[in-house]
Amino acid sequence: MRNQRNRVLAKRIVNEATRRGYTLTRKALTLLESSEDPIKTLEKAINLLTNHGAGSRIIDEKVLREVSEVEVEPEPVEELVEEIPEPPIEIDERFLKEYRITGSFEEFQKYFRSRYEKLASALRERLGGVVDLRTALRLREGQEAYVVAMLSDRRESEKAWMLRVDDPSAEARIIVPKTSEAGEAAEKSLMDSVLGIRVVKRGNSLIAREIVFPDVAQEETKKLDLAANVCMISDIHVGSKKFRDDLFESFLDWINRARDPEVKRIKFLVVAGDLVDGVGVYPHQQEELELTSIKDQLKMLSKLLAEVPERIKIIVAPGNHDPVQKPLPQPPLSGEYRKILEQSGRRMIFVGNPAWISLGGRRILVYHGQGLDDVLQLVPGFSHSALRENIGRALELLLKHRHLAPIYGENTPVLPLNEDLLVIDKTPDIIHVGHVHVAYAGSYRGIRLLNTGTWQEQTSFQRNIGLEPTVGVAAVVNLGDLSIRVKKFM
Ligand SMILES: [Fe+2]
Repeated sequence: MRNQRNRVLAKRIVNEATRRGYTLTRKALTLLESSEDPIKTLEKAINLLTNHGAGSRIIDEKVLREVSEVEVEPEPVEELVEEIPEPPIEIDERFLKEYRITGSFEEFQKYFRSRYEKLASALRERLGGVVDLRTALRLREGQEAYVVAMLSDRRESEKAWMLRVDDPSAEARIIVPKTSEAGEAAEKSLMDSVLGIRVVKRGNSLIAREIVFPDVAQEETKKLDLAANVCMISDIHVGSKKFRDDLFESFLDWINRARDPEVKRIKFLVVAGDLVDGVGVYPHQQEELELTSIKDQLKMLSKLLAEVPERIKIIVAPGNHDPVQKPLPQPPLSGEYRKILEQSGRRMIFVGNPAWISLGGRRILVYHGQGLDDVLQLVPGFSHSALRENIGRALELLLKHRHLAPIYGENTPVLPLNEDLLVIDKTPDIIHVGHVHVAYAGSYRGIRLLNTGTWQEQTSFQRNIGLEPTVGVAAVVNLGDLSIRVKKFM
């Protein structure tokens, strides 16, 4: 039986052909419906007829076979969908709550203490024989020791970096010669991060010989006996005038046709935030909105997501454009908004931002990516305009510091909770981010790094900062071997 999505697709293909002045035979339409990218194949067929100059306005299977590797007798879609057992889902419940703070000084103290303790314990274990800063300040001339401290200030002189650091015992100034390896690490170190530092006493000063980031351990990719795939997208921005509904329709066509063996195995769709464009997110946003109410935006998204096949579980995390509190960690969408999103009859799993999810035993860290803004703005050599070149390195830097928003008090609002939930306290198999709208797939120490771009064309703000978004992208991750395929719909 043809579902609603197949009917929509057939209509789009016929409309496009008619608009261009061409007629499709019934067989040609069936073939196009089953092809990888029907509109692109149709375009190729029209180009072929135009270039031949034969004057034919009829597209039949012969023309299609010349321009594409379409199957002559496509099998019915539904029969192709394999019966793959559903991998179990586990969600870390710490990220499902809505946290509140009072704004007291004690809360900040507890928050930083938690950050320090979580990161320091890992470093202490790795380095061994770590002393506290108070002890380090009393070292004898020429004596060395490891300390684990939080970076609170960094000044630059001609030949050295001056780091101001502290731990629960004391505060200290550490000099890092620029020409050393430690000098390079000092330049990359993010403010408010926790570092392991090998120091030597010289006169009244502590000189750094080595700087060790908390970092993640190198992991070998273990293959799992899992045939399931996860599809990952982010930054849909429904409601924006720049939302590319046509590309999202192509995505829905693709995920429904299940002709591609990789699509057949998709059991989950993860959306890493910025579901909608929101309202009042930035000054004068109104002028750039197609839908000016949050409810209408969510209703539209509800209709779109309702077309994702039932066999695929949809997991939804919020971003900074969505109607939840802005500081991290963001809670899942509230009941009121979930209702709207599910009103088309499609159930979803709502998680917070960040969210730790295990799918079939694979640990996935879903994070919208707000903390990347600070890294891009404050780290020398990084910028939003050169994002394509440095998005991978910016993600690596977060993993090196084992923190999703290390720099406190800049552009990324963070709730000072008793436990710092933004510390990367487990090693993920995959980190899936969005936010910066530039797609990326890579790996760092065995961890798959993924940014899934956006479905929104370049905005005027992005043009001003020179950001070229990757529009219309979905990633398919194989849970068995963690291979990634980035599918482009543009
Ligand atoms: Fe976004």
